[in-house]
Amino acid sequence: NDRHTTAVPEAWRSDVESVLLTESSIRSRVAELGKQISADYARLAPDFVVVGILTGSFIFLADLVRVVSLPLRVYFARAKSYSGTRSTGTVHLQDFERLQVRGKHVLVVEDIVDTGKTLKAISEELSRQGALSVEFCTFIAKQTERKEEGVPQVRYVGFVCPDRFVVGYGLDCDERLRQLPFVGIYRGPRE
Ligand code: XMP
Ligand code: MG
Repeated sequence: NDRHTTAVPEAWRSDVESVLLTESSIRSRVAELGKQISADYARLAPDFVVVGILTGSFIFLADLVRVVSLPLRVYFARAKSYSGTRSTGTVHLQDFERLQVRGKHVLVVEDIVDTGKTLKAISEELSRQGALSVEFCTFIAKQTERKEEGVPQVRYVGFVCPDRFVVGYGLDCDERLRQLPFVGIYRGPRE
């Protein structure tokens, strides 16, 4: 029985087509990211700030910060661009003005990067607020041709995934399915 090819649990079969990332593969990848981030930020530790982008990053961030062995501060802000399984094309940022990032080294934690529009908007906003450095850590990078111009490099990528709509481990379809401990391909029409 291969732990990397798991059947979709009965309860989720009507929503999820197949399992893309299992709980155990997520756990070991997050541990690797934690080690890498701990090494890279060791020197910057007193001014190290992690900003989670709500809502999608909440589970990833919770797991990630617990495997980073450095002092850090956690803040959350909100970004929204999707409605259902489609991008609206406009990024709405919220609560960024309350973040205390001036003079800090900021690591932004995202659920998934698709076109990169959200990333670009966040990066510009954090620079405006006087962050010393801004790096990105995304749980998933989607393989897509629809890339935006001038998107900042993502320094830490958990997994690269095909251009399908995915749910679970924080990722939703209209706020549902975030609680799945694995990542699945959403069953349902994209349009
Ligand atoms: P952009 O295009 O700005 O999109 O890089 C990033 C944001 O879009 C959402 N998104 C998804 N959410 N499953 C989701 O649950 C997906 O497959 C997906 N693709 C994009 C997400 O909010 C992300 O921050
Ligand atoms: Mg979403």
